[in-house]
Amino acid sequence: MSTTETGTGVDRAARGVVTGVADAGVGATRRTGDDVAAPHRPPPALICVDCGASDQDLSGKCRHCGGMVDATYPAAVEAVLRPGDTDTLATYWDLLPIPDRTTCRIALEPTPTVLLTELDGVPIYAKVEGVLPTGSTKDRLIAVSLPLLLERGVERFVFSSTGNTAAAYAWGLQFYPELSARVYLSDEVPDSQLGPPNPAMEVVRVQGDYVAAGNRSRAEVGPGETPEGGFFNLGRREGAKLAYLEAFDDVERGGGQVDVVVQAVASGLGIVAAARAAEQSAAVRRWGRGPRLYCAQQTSCSPMVKAWRDALNGSNLRRVEEMPEGLAAAILLGDPFSSFDYVAKAARDSEGGFVDVTSSEIAAALQRHSHEVPLGDSAAVALASVYRMWEQGDLRGSQGVLVALTGGPGR
Ligand SMILES: Cc1ncc(COP(=O)(O)O)c(C=O)c1O
Ligand SMILES: [Zn+2]
Repeated sequence: MSTTETGTGVDRAARGVVTGVADAGVGATRRTGDDVAAPHRPPPALICVDCGASDQDLSGKCRHCGGMVDATYPAAVEAVLRPGDTDTLATYWDLLPIPDRTTCRIALEPTPTVLLTELDGVPIYAKVEGVLPTGSTKDRLIAVSLPLLLERGVERFVFSSTGNTAAAYAWGLQFYPELSARVYLSDEVPDSQLGPPNPAMEVVRVQGDYVAAGNRSRAEVGPGETPEGGFFNLGRREGAKLAYLEAFDDVERGGGQVDVVVQAVASGLGIVAAARAAEQSAAVRRWGRGPRLYCAQQTSCSPMVKAWRDALNGSNLRRVEEMPEGLAAAILLGDPFSSFDYVAKAARDSEGGFVDVTSSEIAAALQRHSHEVPLGDSAAVALASVYRMWEQGDLRGSQGVLVALTGGPGR
């Protein structure tokens, strides 16, 4: 087996190997009222995927069964990214659940999709999310979630985070002075990860892990406050979807095709979003078949991988990691079992799966590629998993692999 390096990622993108926004300085601008057209429209139907009810609480969870609610869009929407597009929310507007365009105040430029390498002739495309304003894909999530919270009449919301979502909301709230938030964070998350403090976001430190922070955030929702919903927040999932819509369009424009997707998972929101994107992407429709979706975890904290393997062996065991640890802090979630069934379904329906990698495999991926693309530890878990899958023969015959590099250094 041989690895063919194909040059430096972002450079290759700049030379047009895969189109997209090539310069790494992707920023966000505040939208003004002038650049928005047809601001109002009826919202898409929001339906619980478990029971079919159309009644949600303010965070977007089904009021009847507590299930996940998704938006239903017309089947024939042909939204596609074009070279020069400067706002991904505008490009995919017809695939977003926001009724009023004037509430979208965060314009995000598309991020680069680059041909990172080839493994035995299989192109490995990377979606480079580390160039977003706070350095992670979470900026997309909050750019869609904030307008939805505003439109639902939320004033103050409460959530928990492993760090990156908190940083993204702290940044995004500056554009939404009508909103404020309280976040619960493990005391192990360094202050530096949160970016500049925002008085609109109160930070509560919790002794313990992300699960402990999540429990506190659910228990301490006060009068006039709304639980943000986490995985169940529709805006978050619809925002995460944009990375995949962009990547599928970019790869197709470069003449390629994606039949395998790999992302690092904590709650698995990103993979569920990838499944939605695959369903709705004009590029994927032309390819005729959706990609196999793979969820990547670090071996030292891999509750989803274990539950998946248990399920393959006919057991319904759910083993919580009581003391999650590992290099990639952003994905240290020891108890992902409120979302696992949705994530496992996305993997199973696509004929994908779950994969875990050791610290030395993660370190090797960082060493190989961190000079080419902004690459954080969680992103490196996904990238290391691509190498692992290649070694195991899982990529044989693939037309193209898309790995989501969900965060840059420190993310
Ligand atoms: C950089 C990064 N990658 C991946 C993830 C995985 O998130 P999820 O599985 O919840 O989509 C996170 C979550 O915090 C993250 O910050
Ligand atoms: Zn329901």
